[in-house]
Amino acid sequence: MRPPSFCSRGPTVKAILCQRFGTPDDLVLGDISDPTPAPGEVVAKVVAVGLNFFDTLIIAGKYQTKPPFPFSPGGEFAGVVESVGAGVAAFAPDDRVMGYTNFNAARERTAVPADNIVKIPADLDFDRAAALTITYGTAYHALQHRALLRASETLAVLGASGGVGLAAVELGAVMGARVIACASTDDKLEFARSHGAHEVVNYQKENLRNALKRLGGEHGIDVVFDPVGGAYSEPALRSLGWEGRHLVVGFAAGDIPKLPLNLVLLKGCAALGVFWGAWVRHEREQYKEAIERLARWCGEGKLSGHIQQVYPLSETPKALKALAERKVMGKLIVRP
Ligand SMILES: NC(=O)c1ccc[n+]([C@@H]2O[C@H](COP(=O)([O-])OP(=O)(O)OC[C@H]3O[C@@H](n4cnc5c(N)ncnc54)[C@H](OP(=O)(O)O)[C@@H]3O)[C@@H](O)[C@H]2O)c1
Repeated sequence: MRPPSFCSRGPTVKAILCQRFGTPDDLVLGDISDPTPAPGEVVAKVVAVGLNFFDTLIIAGKYQTKPPFPFSPGGEFAGVVESVGAGVAAFAPDDRVMGYTNFNAARERTAVPADNIVKIPADLDFDRAAALTITYGTAYHALQHRALLRASETLAVLGASGGVGLAAVELGAVMGARVIACASTDDKLEFARSHGAHEVVNYQKENLRNALKRLGGEHGIDVVFDPVGGAYSEPALRSLGWEGRHLVVGFAAGDIPKLPLNLVLLKGCAALGVFWGAWVRHEREQYKEAIERLARWCGEGKLSGHIQQVYPLSETPKALKALAERKVMGKLIVRP
């Protein structure tokens, strides 16, 4: 990590800072002014930050959001309200809360619009609460609102041991689907199986199209959840049955595939975009209901909110490197 190139006057808090676009090694641990809440905001002590693959993109300047410098990575968090701004009636100091910040969570205290957060149920701990909002929220929005997944349908999940992939495996199983987990190693597949997958495909060993053809049977696959992109998207789309749905979630493999539209015509199928951030902006009440439901399900043990490892704030770069290097199963958490 590079040393910080600035300091702050008055009370300060520790933060992981991106001062210019680059790699995790370009991040610095520095001091920033202690935030105060603007109208409609709360300031929360951050107890746990959920890291996501997009954090590796946002610090590289390769994400659709380009925050002003310096900013902190970390889009979802759990913590405790310390103060509330004018007009905030739903929260008070000492409330345990979870939600999303988009960026700026990897710091000791953060200011967040009150509309972005919900209270944490008593039976849910901070680490798992920090892992739910974006990760499980994206998978839930994709399966429930976009694909309209039905019980007994067949769901194939690519990148099935990653953050949103594992969430889709668990939610697919909870929703009664037959879940086929697809991933790059046998360890990752065993892990996905232990989280509810009924069938598994190692797409580095076996041709994905052949495997999904075999497992989809005569009818084919009903829904593909695709956060990977690259070379896997087209074979997955080709495996869909009549009126199947291909959920376009992300491109962790790097390449944005160009898919032949004649397949969509011939199968009467749909390629459905999934954009969590835009959904939250357009459907605020639906978002809050969804997050409260996911938190309840996690507290009750229906969802795991699996944490692979917890890092101290200073080791945020190490955690981001593990995500970029495809080493993570479930979620990584940073505790400031
Ligand atoms: N659309 C939305 O609203 C939304 C919301 C959240 C996330 N996303 C996107 O969804 C994708 C996954 O996010 P995540 O946080 O779940 O990531 P993650 O935990 O790192 O999981 C990504 C998975 O992708 C697979 N992968 C294939 N090639 C890879 C590569 N070159 N580098 C890294 N992973 C690779 C890996 O599984 P295997 O090794 O098994 O292939 C890995 O488990 C990202 O593209 C992210 O931007 C989109």
